[in-house]
Amino acid sequence: MFEIAPSILSSNFTRLAEEIEIVKQGGANILHVDVMDGRFVPNITIGLPIVKSLRKATDMTIDCHLMIEEPSRYATKFVEAGADMVSVHVEADVHLQRTLVAIRDAGGQSGIAINPATPLVSLEEALPYADFILLMSVNPGFGGQSFIPTSLDKLRRLRQMISERRLNTKIEIDGGIDIDNIAKVVESGAEIVVSGSSIFGKDNPTQAVKDMIDAASVWV
Ligand code: DX5
Ligand code: ZN
Repeated sequence: MFEIAPSILSSNFTRLAEEIEIVKQGGANILHVDVMDGRFVPNITIGLPIVKSLRKATDMTIDCHLMIEEPSRYATKFVEAGADMVSVHVEADVHLQRTLVAIRDAGGQSGIAINPATPLVSLEEALPYADFILLMSVNPGFGGQSFIPTSLDKLRRLRQMISERRLNTKIEIDGGIDIDNIAKVVESGAEIVVSGSSIFGKDNPTQAVKDMIDAASVWV
């Protein structure tokens, strides 16, 4: 089984409620929300007030990807604002285990996000405290970048690492996923697939979600 998580980063923010409905009709149940602070990544996007509004507007699972420095200062605030899933970057948090436990204690699913150049070994100690791993297949900061090909092998190794430890940590993949490579990432072990520009960048995002689900369904 896999799920598709449209990233609202590529949506039209002036009509967010409609955009959400459009992708939901295509079969998406998770909404990926990219939070950027202009420090951990070069870009600045959205924060807590938008998540609060989204919570009121939809029953979809809200998945907040925190691309921010010192994520421990904000992680539980995102759960309180209505996020169901919150991921923090392993590169940004020196007290990662504590942050993951805090997210769980607040009632959220805890996630560790990991950049393309960061080795999987950095996940090892905190893995039992994570409900999911967000494997970045582009360097975070912008939508519409190309999938980094070595991410596939990294994904397979992560799948193996989780299986060997008999954990049921989910794997989410994020960056450069389109209709041509979605089957490969699902085959390689991704259970949640984030996609921004390949959905909201299309004329018919409802159909784009359906097409991506169809393209990946070969493997499930
Ligand atoms: C990148 C973000 C992604 C982005 C994905 O920093 O974390 O979630 O929105 O967009 P696409 O699918 O266009 O690569
Ligand atoms: Zn993201």
